[in-house]
Amino acid sequence: MTEDDRKGPGGPGGPSRRDFLRGSGVAAATAVLTGQATAILDEAKAAQAAEPKILKGEVEITLKVNGHDHPCTVEPRSTLLDTLRNRLDVTGPKRVCDRASCGACTAIVDGDPVYSCTTLAVSCQGKKIETLESFDTGEHGVPHAFHQNDGLMCGYCTPGFVTACKAFLDKNPNPTLEEVRKGIDGNICRCGTYVGVLQAALDAAKAMKGA
Ligand code: FES
Ligand code: FES
Repeated sequence: MTEDDRKGPGGPGGPSRRDFLRGSGVAAATAVLTGQATAILDEAKAAQAAEPKILKGEVEITLKVNGHDHPCTVEPRSTLLDTLRNRLDVTGPKRVCDRASCGACTAIVDGDPVYSCTTLAVSCQGKKIETLESFDTGEHGVPHAFHQNDGLMCGYCTPGFVTACKAFLDKNPNPTLEEVRKGIDGNICRCGTYVGVLQAALDAAKAMKGA
């Protein structure tokens, strides 16, 4: 055995067994840390990729409203209500509370009723937006049932109620009174026309079947 051969752990001139074991431990820890660091970096990259794009200034969007594509320019903070009323001249949804509590601004997005006053227009790209301008105004439609049942007084809440009823009945064609009550409870009528509104919804459910 040569001098060099004996420079292994514990050999004369080489690292001691203790040094060797300590060094192995550091190497192992470094490997673990490297693995963790890689995982953290991967997570950070994934989070960065998943982060929403930050929009600034004005953006070009296209909204599909009542079956038609409407290109328009909006600020990223623009609500669907503002965009419909002020950019696209779709004035069915009304601004009353402007803070998601009354339902006068209700529009239907991909089949669900939403408060358009607190929905960002940019978030509605590629979705199907419906407002009461597209509803059947004949005897099989929801507006007719409201008219027949005196489901309005001042009328401020009415577009929202008609829209909420339509969205509800499209998914619940055979509702009970209690189901209607719960289904449109996101809307408020300050004139208290609830009796007429509820009956209108029940009548509309029957009428829509005959359409
Ligand atoms: S105006 Fe949107 S909920 Fe009242
Ligand atoms: S009819 Fe006036 S608020 Fe409903």
